[in-house]
This record gives sequence, C-alpha cells and structure tokens, in this order.
Amino acid sequence: MSLFVETLRGKRGPRPPVWLMRQAGRYLPEYRALREKNSMLQMVMTPELACEVTLQPLRRFPLDAGIIFADILTPLIGMGANLEFKKGEGPVIDNPVRSAADVAKLRLPPPSENTPYTLNAIRLVVKELAEKTPLIGFSGAPFTLSCYLIEGQSPGDLQRTKAMMVGDAATWHALQEKLVTLCVEYLVAQVEAGCKALQVFDSWLGYLGPREYAQFVEPYLSRVISEVRARVDVPVVFFATGVAGLFPQLSKLDAHAFGVDWRISLTQAHKLLGRNATLQGNLDPQLLAGPWEYIERSAREILAEGAEIPAHVFNLGHGVLPHTPPENVQRLVELVHSR
Ligand code: CP3
Repeated sequence: MSLFVETLRGKRGPRPPVWLMRQAGRYLPEYRALREKNSMLQMVMTPELACEVTLQPLRRFPLDAGIIFADILTPLIGMGANLEFKKGEGPVIDNPVRSAADVAKLRLPPPSENTPYTLNAIRLVVKELAEKTPLIGFSGAPFTLSCYLIEGQSPGDLQRTKAMMVGDAATWHALQEKLVTLCVEYLVAQVEAGCKALQVFDSWLGYLGPREYAQFVEPYLSRVISEVRARVDVPVVFFATGVAGLFPQLSKLDAHAFGVDWRISLTQAHKLLGRNATLQGNLDPQLLAGPWEYIERSAREILAEGAEIPAHVFNLGHGVLPHTPPENVQRLVELVHSR
C-alpha cells in the first residue's frame, strides 16, 4: 500500500505525503495550452484529455497522489442540469432546481451511463500510473451540489438554498435523497474503476450554522460516507472550508481524514474533532503564490504541527490558484519530501 493511503488510514510513515487540491489546472502552461483548444467540459468529457491533464502535474512534481480531472458538477449534467462553465462567471446552470416538480424531473442514471467519460479516464490514468502513484476519486457532497443546483450560479449568500431548506423542507429532503444516491453510486464506481482513495468536497458548508447542519445536512452526508465505506474498502477524506465551528459535529462522520483550511491550525482542528483522524492541509493557497521565504517558513510550521497529530497529509487549505508560479509548487513538494 502507498504512503498516501497508509497515512489516510492513520499510519504514520517516514514523512507526510503531499498532493495539492487543483494540482491540475491553469497555473500550468501545459494545461493552458490544451485549454486554449478545448472547453473545460470537453476536457472532462474526453477521457484521453482528462487522463493527460491528470498526469501533467505528476510528470512535473514528485507528488504522492493524483486526482482524476473532472469537476464536482459534471455528474449533475446526466441528472438534467444544463451546466456550463462561463468565462469570468464560473459554473452556471440555466435550469435551476426550485420546486418539487424540478426535483421530480431529476434523473438518476447509473454511473456507467451518467459519467462514462470520467470512469474511462480513471481506467486510462490507472493504467499509466501502474501502481506507482495512487489516484483519488471524488464527488461533491449533497449539500454543496444542492447549492449549485438551486442557485444556478456561484452560490453567493445561499439565499434560495436556505429558503428552500426552511421554507419547503419536503422538497429539500427529496432533493437530498436523490443526491445521496448520485454520490454513493458515483464514488463506488470510481473505486471500481481503479481509484485508491476518495475525497468528498463540501465547499459551501461553512455558510451553515450548527443547527441547520444537524437538521438538513448531517443525515445525508453521514449516509454518503457510511454507505460508501460499507461497499468499498478505500479511505475517505472529507473536505470543507470555514467549518471550524462545525468540527465537533463533523467528527461523527465515518471519514478517515478531514481536510483543514488555513483559517484554523492543525492543532486546533485536531482538538475540535476530538478523535483520532488524519488531517490534510493547510497552507493558504494565496501564500503559495508569494515569496519562497514565507512559504518555506509556513510549510515548516505546518509540518511541525502535523508531527504532533495522529497523522498528516500535506496539502493546501483550498485549491492551487491560477497565478501560482509552478516553481513554488516544485519547491514546496521537495521541502515536504526532504522531511
Ligand atoms: O483538484 C483537481 O486537480 C481535480 C479537479 C477538480 C476541479 N474542480 C477541476 C476544475 C476538482 C476536485 C474540482 C472540485 C470543485 N469544483 C469544487 C470543490 C472544491 C473547491 O474548489 O471548493 C467546486 C466548488 C467546483 C466548482 C467549480 N468548478 C468552480 C466554482 C469553478 C470555476 C472557478 C475556477 O477556478 O475557474 C470550476 C471550474 C474548474 N474545475 C476548473 C478546474 C481546473 C477551472 C477550469 C478552467 O477554466 O480551465
């Protein structure tokens, strides 16, 4: 088993493994070159291109894991969402889900029909990596997927999402049921295609308070993780941002590891979780675009904190930003490897 997978399972290796969220993307000139000729969706939906883009950062840097090139929103297309990535705007869905009738219309094709392109891309990548580097599969969590489906654009202040939650709870719960099935089937299919670890992204969870989390989100999120674990034997990472106030509740999730953003220290996150779990993080991605001296000092401090918790996977607190110099990524990965 790999250092990355072992560490997620709570076993401390000779050094922490390192990978970076959004390690494939616009900060790499070879990504931009492909992106000039193809839309984001074309790249995700063409297995050879998705495979190539997944491998780009792994060719440059000695990363300890790859992550399949896809997006948390692409599985929504097969459900009936008209998803587009618009320049400057990010993702847009022009037929948002606002009513019980909209939820009833959402389809649930099996992953082999819904996202064959991603499953085929995983098979290509796994063949290329030949057991050298583990590949991470991922899914959005039902809550964050709901935010995009309901708002139809960058979720902002979640006005419509929260309005549905508290004003039309039956519709909210019906939507969550469908999304739990989507997430579980999609995650399991990615493992069957060759992924060795899974990450569940709940990027917008930090906008909720503890009571609404407990009532409207936790029952579904905890089912996603426990149902996946009952079906496939790979470690699961749960990632969200701005959730320090929810850590005591998140601790009950059956995840092996938790992503930690830069707003809280690894030490504090461990205390708030109050149980043995691997933590993954947590350099501020904005800093990675700055001077090396500051990156180095911050990374060493994070590594020192990581040495005091049950197990640590080095990562950023959120994704690599487009203006990040690739040179900084190179030096950061080398620094972690020199531990
Ligand atoms: O990490 C990786 O390298 C794997 C690929 C990956 C992408 N998106 C590719 C992508 C992953 C894991 C995601 C997850 C994702 N997508 C999340 C959860 C994590 C997070 O960032 O909070 C969310 C909320 C999305 C939704 C999404 N996709 C947004 C808001 C945007 C637009 C913002 C942006 O950076 O342009 C995307 C587009 C997107 N997804 C890009 C990439 C590489 C940029 C596409 C491009 O224009 O080339």
